[in-house]
Amino acid sequence: MSRALLLTTGIAAVLLAQPILAKENAADPLAAAEARAEATVKQMRPEEKTILTHSIMPIDIHKTGIKFPDDAIFGAGYTPGIKRLGTPPLRETDASLGIAWLEGGRKDGATALPSAIAQAASWNPDLVYRGGAMIGSEARAKGFNLLLAGGVNLMRDPRNGRSFEYFSEDPLLSGVLAGAAIRGVQSNDIISTIKHLALNGQETGRKFVDVKISDAAARESDLLAFQIGIEMGHPGSVMCAYNKVNGHYACDNDYLLNTVLKKDWGYKGFVMSDWGAVPGVEAAMNGLDRQSGEQLDKAVYFGDTLAKKAASDPAYAARIDDMNKRVLTAMYAFGLDKNPTQPGGKIDFEKNALVAEEVARQGIVLLKNSGDVLPLAKTAKSIAVIGGYADGGVLSGSGSSQVQGANGPAISRPKFGEGSQFITEQYHRSSPFAAIKARAKDAKITYRDERYVSDAVLKASQAEVAIIFATQWMAEGLDVPDLSLPYGQDALIAAVAAANPRTIVVLETGGPVKMPWLDKVAAVVEAWYPGARGGEAIASVLFGETNPSGRLPISFPASESQLPRPRVDGSDWIEPGHIGASTAEGARLTADYDIEGSDVGYRWFARKGEKPLFPFGYGLSYTTFESSGLKLSGLNASFTVRNTGKRAGDEVAQLYLVNRGGEAKLRLVGFSRVSLAAGARKKVSVTVDPRILADWNGKGWTMPGGDYVFALGKDAEDMGQTVSVRFPEKSWKD
Ligand code: GLC
Repeated sequence: MSRALLLTTGIAAVLLAQPILAKENAADPLAAAEARAEATVKQMRPEEKTILTHSIMPIDIHKTGIKFPDDAIFGAGYTPGIKRLGTPPLRETDASLGIAWLEGGRKDGATALPSAIAQAASWNPDLVYRGGAMIGSEARAKGFNLLLAGGVNLMRDPRNGRSFEYFSEDPLLSGVLAGAAIRGVQSNDIISTIKHLALNGQETGRKFVDVKISDAAARESDLLAFQIGIEMGHPGSVMCAYNKVNGHYACDNDYLLNTVLKKDWGYKGFVMSDWGAVPGVEAAMNGLDRQSGEQLDKAVYFGDTLAKKAASDPAYAARIDDMNKRVLTAMYAFGLDKNPTQPGGKIDFEKNALVAEEVARQGIVLLKNSGDVLPLAKTAKSIAVIGGYADGGVLSGSGSSQVQGANGPAISRPKFGEGSQFITEQYHRSSPFAAIKARAKDAKITYRDERYVSDAVLKASQAEVAIIFATQWMAEGLDVPDLSLPYGQDALIAAVAAANPRTIVVLETGGPVKMPWLDKVAAVVEAWYPGARGGEAIASVLFGETNPSGRLPISFPASESQLPRPRVDGSDWIEPGHIGASTAEGARLTADYDIEGSDVGYRWFARKGEKPLFPFGYGLSYTTFESSGLKLSGLNASFTVRNTGKRAGDEVAQLYLVNRGGEAKLRLVGFSRVSLAAGARKKVSVTVDPRILADWNGKGWTMPGGDYVFALGKDAEDMGQTVSVRFPEKSWKD
């Protein structure tokens, strides 16, 4: 596998004993384990060769009374061990944000990380690594040895219902952070996935939507995020997606799985299907190595059916050996046999909650702060807190990634008539209202929910400051129809702001939202889904204990009309349903991603000359920063970041390509999060990955010869000093 020219992110010195890159330079653990896996396959008996090739979901979802083996754990997946060969069982759980709660099915709880978009807003790979290490340790303690984490799909559409599970609209930021999260998970001697390969850009019709996109556009965007994530994280497994890509299911896609992933990228782990994503046994010949959650498919294709194929067809016989080799390679690479997991391990939930809180604090983005209404003084006399269930907890995203503590959600609002418990609007037990009261002990603090606008307005008018919490619930399987705040919250905010100009809006959203009231409120804080201690993190920012340092990992559109698609394809005729509008059997749906191609997010806004509400990379602080002195020597950039304000804070300095060969071309090429005391400065360096500067030429990459203009950016719009570098034309293969 080719080694990318490594991006050097100058991580905040205070957070790192050693540069994060030292860990990423480690040789590929999968490559090191391959020979041993090959030797084991040689010892396998025919009847053993279809054990590792499929898994069952150890939950009796069809209520058949099925008995699972004693060593299976209630969760997403189970594959028995092969005692004779010393291979352990594979015990799998979701997901990227912690150990899935599954409605309390195991009667245990776990620590909920903030949403992945919140993690991404920290632009801090080392912190994301720590989050992955924490949830991986809880997976191990519960007996799981495979965590279905590493969701890295680009947010092509901000209405995507799983935006909260993904990092960004940019391939570099997404890939670097996914790689860090995966390394964190796997530091516990368990396997992590990276998912969902590929172009799983919407939930509407997710099981049959056929994405059309050119090879170059895919390679320069969604696939590049996976490529960087795999190079930097070495995930033991790749989960392929439900949707089709250019006419073939992603899990039955010779081009995606055999050509791109295994041949071009040299991937040595195994490809597992998503749950219920296998169309037939032929998928084995198109690169799929393991059928997952087999009872969700029409049949178990990768058991006896596959064995029969292997017994009669040499191509299948060779393939089945490779399938087993890949699963064994991943097992051996991460020590699943040498350091097996057992349930009943100890978990320090208090310590783990502090990791979640730190991620939330660093991911909170201050979007507006007129008149420095923030930070609030602890001597405030009266505060009206309104809406968003702020008296109970903080919002979380729904679906397979849902995490809760042992006592379950503070609030749970079912969303579908059939009373499906799996898709509900749930809140973590971490009350912003309680955390605010704890900080402003002498203030008169009232709380009103959003039921009666007149009552909320009255309380706001009686208080020095009003803090209104607004929520946008998102769920796997369900896209949002538009970017407005649901439940009439826009009207509520406008009414409260009219009653009190010192109104602060705290958003708990899965992704971007429109803000028709923006010029009427004093401050806006984007807290995303802030996880197990989100209330405390929000209050610490509101009262200035934490200087907000988050930067948007996704553009906030001013209107849906700015997007490549006026609506999510299919959303005008496909009915939402349990886990997502995917039950319209035989339905046909096409999504044309060639409209934007690789110009996803801020690149699209730049190409169309559109101005978003808030640009990618945007975020305010309680202090001010300045980046200067940009120098480039080849692909090595260096510059100085200075804290020009009166209090310590973290800056995320961003380096962009803004012009190539005389043509405007906006691409994030590097970033550096730096912690600085007031007045302090720090020199940082970034090594640019040349693929970000290049075009896919059909067989590899080409950097056209010419002048490349780079700029230091506070965000994707606010550019500072530029430097131009001339490069000769250069082409290379992955
Ligand atoms: C779901 C999701 C996937 C998850 C899997 C197991 O449908 O798409 O992200 O890991 O099934 O729950």
